[in-house]
Amino acid sequence: MKKEIKTETKSNSEHKMEEFEKRNKLAEAGGGEDRIKKQHESGKLTVRERINILLDNGTFNELDKFVLHNATDFDMSKTRIPGDGVVSGYGKIDGRLVYVFGFDFTVFGGSLSRTNADKIIKVQKLSIRNGAPIIALNDSGGARIQEGVASLGGYADIFYLNTMSSGVVPQISAIMGPCAGGAVYSPAITDFVFMVKEKSHMFVTGPEVIKTVTHEDVTKEELGGAMTHNSKSGVAHFISENEESTLMLIRELLQFLPSNNMDDSPYRPSLDDVHRESEKLQTLIPEDPNKPYDMKELITAVVDNEYFFEVMPFFAQNIVVGFAFLGGKSVGIVANQPAVLAGVLDVDASIKGARFVRFCDAFNIPLITFEDVPGFLPGTTQEHLGIIRNGAKLLYAFCEATVPKITVITRKAYGGAYCVMSSKHIGGDVNMAYPTAEIAVMGPEGAVNILYRSADAEGKKVALDDYKENFANPYQAAALGYIDEIILPRQTRIKLIHALEMTQNKTLSNPPKKHGNIPL
Ligand code: HXC
Repeated sequence: MKKEIKTETKSNSEHKMEEFEKRNKLAEAGGGEDRIKKQHESGKLTVRERINILLDNGTFNELDKFVLHNATDFDMSKTRIPGDGVVSGYGKIDGRLVYVFGFDFTVFGGSLSRTNADKIIKVQKLSIRNGAPIIALNDSGGARIQEGVASLGGYADIFYLNTMSSGVVPQISAIMGPCAGGAVYSPAITDFVFMVKEKSHMFVTGPEVIKTVTHEDVTKEELGGAMTHNSKSGVAHFISENEESTLMLIRELLQFLPSNNMDDSPYRPSLDDVHRESEKLQTLIPEDPNKPYDMKELITAVVDNEYFFEVMPFFAQNIVVGFAFLGGKSVGIVANQPAVLAGVLDVDASIKGARFVRFCDAFNIPLITFEDVPGFLPGTTQEHLGIIRNGAKLLYAFCEATVPKITVITRKAYGGAYCVMSSKHIGGDVNMAYPTAEIAVMGPEGAVNILYRSADAEGKKVALDDYKENFANPYQAAALGYIDEIILPRQTRIKLIHALEMTQNKTLSNPPKKHGNIPL
């Protein structure tokens, strides 16, 4: 019998599938093997590796993979790489939808072209329309020089959408390489900026330009490295050892955030007993009102699983802000830190607190305030830096916030700072105080020095004891109804959880307006 000879002929559709695979591979190779090798050698991951780590396995759907730039100057038509240096799309983090875009440094140094700007704009619009957070992975040489103003236009379009997204969906920026020139303004508008130690840099003008203009010698690390922006400028909110830990930290942050401004703050049931009392809180506040203690110890003792996710831990450490779950509900915590500068409010602390309060209010996250504040920091430096204007930011932010606001005064609540820190008068829903609270116009020593200036030492001592007895306590405020409850420190957790439950259906809106005029 004659054997049938089968010839390997591929159908038209098989050819098309192969063509597709080939194009796919080409797009995924970005700037090619050599540049990927260079990227790895410089200690950086590729954009696709970053996205794989960031998102839940197998959830990434890439958009615009085959977009090509259409520039022709500088012989650009000869180098058209599918995707054009930005990888964008959507996926999931802990099962929740997010949008992501990342610059591919292997393609023209991750520079922004007109066409890849349009890819970013597409996901920005999708994130607003569908109400899910957007995450940017920055690693870029800035505007694509060969495209001139078309690239600048792309940036401006992105800034505009960053602004339109603000307060609608959480926006997160990770800086994983260079981010210079006007490019920094997209991260700056977003809600949280993450930086990687030694690998990421942000500046409006680099060290060379600075040398020419101001003759200053500065390294790029000193100028705009991760620690500089986390501790000095306040541009960045988080710092990590490496890219993997940065991406993990972003995943963690998202647990505390709703997907958009119409959602409630997340609820995550916990095994931590809501009635758990913390005996150590009974003695945490020192007898001597001038002695410091660590407010973070108090916060962790109170929140679910004793886990506090601190935001901006290295900047203005005299105020502590961050997220936690409390009785399963995500809350934003603002707390004076007596362990640093006695917890005084200065320019940086006011700005840090105000921005955090506004974020929580925009995204329906209840605010818990722990207060131990001797007042605003005196001195010409602070006055000339505008402590009036900047302190007003924190006041304004607390005043306009309509989310549930619950305050616990642990010790000092002096002067204007008493009013500012989510007091009853500016809309505090539940205001509590420990028996150790001192709510007064100023501390006893200051008050006696003013009222009894000409008294002798003995007279001053009597006046001091008298003042402490009458004013350095929470009872005057409680008598006026400015403090709703005086509570035992050990019961802080259950008291806060009850207050959160009591306020969970709060509805309050401020008078209609186009927008307020926060003293920027
Ligand atoms: C086009 C760029 C580019 C850019 C880098 N490349 N930046 N191509 N436009 N902006 C290319 C390089 O030519 C090189 O291509 C490749 O990317 C990798 O760059 P290297 O210089 O080899 O890498 P590295 O040594 O790591 O230095 C990275 C860098 C440096 C620090 C980012 O490339 C740099 O200084 N670039 C210019 C940065 C800049 O001034 N951008 C404009 C900022 S102003 P080859 O083919 O050689 O591999 C701006 C305005 C925005 O962005 C305004 C918004 C309103």
